[in-house]
Amino acid sequence: MLAGRRIVLGVSGGIAAYKSVELCRRLVDAGAHVTPVLTESALRFVGRTTFDALASERAIVSLWEGESRIPHTELGRHTDLVIVAPATARLLGALANGLSTDALTNVLIATRAPVVVCPAMHTEMWEHPAVVANVETLRSRGVTVVDPEAGRLAGGDVGMGRLAGIESIMAAVEVTLAGSGDLAGHRVVVTAGGTREPIDAVRVIANRSSGRQGHAIAAEAQRRGAEVVLITTAESSIPSGCSVVRVETAAEMGVALDNHAASASAVVMAAAVADFRPVEVTSGKHKKSLGAPEIRLEPTPDLLASLGENKPEGQVLVGFAAETSDLIDNARGKLAAKNLDLIVANDVAAPEVGFSHPTNSVTILDTEGGVEETGLMSKAEIATRVVDRVARLLTAVR
Ligand code: CTP
Repeated sequence: MLAGRRIVLGVSGGIAAYKSVELCRRLVDAGAHVTPVLTESALRFVGRTTFDALASERAIVSLWEGESRIPHTELGRHTDLVIVAPATARLLGALANGLSTDALTNVLIATRAPVVVCPAMHTEMWEHPAVVANVETLRSRGVTVVDPEAGRLAGGDVGMGRLAGIESIMAAVEVTLAGSGDLAGHRVVVTAGGTREPIDAVRVIANRSSGRQGHAIAAEAQRRGAEVVLITTAESSIPSGCSVVRVETAAEMGVALDNHAASASAVVMAAAVADFRPVEVTSGKHKKSLGAPEIRLEPTPDLLASLGENKPEGQVLVGFAAETSDLIDNARGKLAAKNLDLIVANDVAAPEVGFSHPTNSVTILDTEGGVEETGLMSKAEIATRVVDRVARLLTAVR
């Protein structure tokens, strides 16, 4: 559930800050991408080096550091959740009143992502009418408040106000994230990689697809709250958190699609499916001494075309077009012929594009005649563009 999700872990200055070190580790272990943002007073209790070492990104303390000119809005915009543990009375008050005084409060006010706060303070402070009112305000705005527990407090006092246990905080993060993201409640099937069609027991007909673009799309859909089924031939860069069906041939990919596609809100066919396969597969290894074999090929079924023929009402179907000439015309032809909602056209002959490159450049065509050219960017950024379009269509369907 947390795999691939981007989380800002805010730490404000209370003795319970040491527990946020453990929380950071738990979030990272669960697969989240964690960026710690510490207040100046948190640094009196814990060291930033600890967070630098444990988190996915270096800790941020000040607005005036780092490479981004506007880190608070950048972080706020790209995170899936902000959690503050511990949240002091000052932090709760600043958030309730829209006051931005440091990096953490800036991120909190600049984000539209769900926010979880985990207050920790002395009993008198927790029960102060101003704090009670601030907590009520935050709850009424949809902030998840993980109530503190009774127990031993700083200075040997005992009472209500101790930071909630790690398990309760992790559960609150999971529940908050489960209902968030523009693809929450949707199942998305993504195919990736090139199929391998056997010639004999050791040889195959394959293609150059690495599966990276499809995997990036699966990761992005999952990050945005979808339940993702990834049907792939590729071994590397498999995103965590998806349910993965490993296949080898076009026929096996067809069976996996039969099992999973009908119930999906969206199907993205990023796989490079072989168009032809050997009619006969030699049992055992064809020996060199027998001479060069003659390999007769037959067409494989067009999986995407049959998904298009049987497309359930409201399903968004996305194809890819790998072209070496007449990119737009060929892609537009496939969009119509296979009854697709979107097609992602790839000039696989262009430099730094397509198979086995970390970067890509695509043109996304839709049924209204829309043409979106992405320009050269990382496969993760391309995935964001593709998933944006899928999400938009799904929202329109609803
Ligand atoms: N595709 C498929 N089954 C096949 C071949 C292709 O589902 N047997 C899908 C691919 O996953 C891709 C789309 O169809 O999403 C287009 O694939 P592409 O190789 O670009 O085109 P083809 O339809 O195979 O036509 P051509 O090879 O002539 O360009």
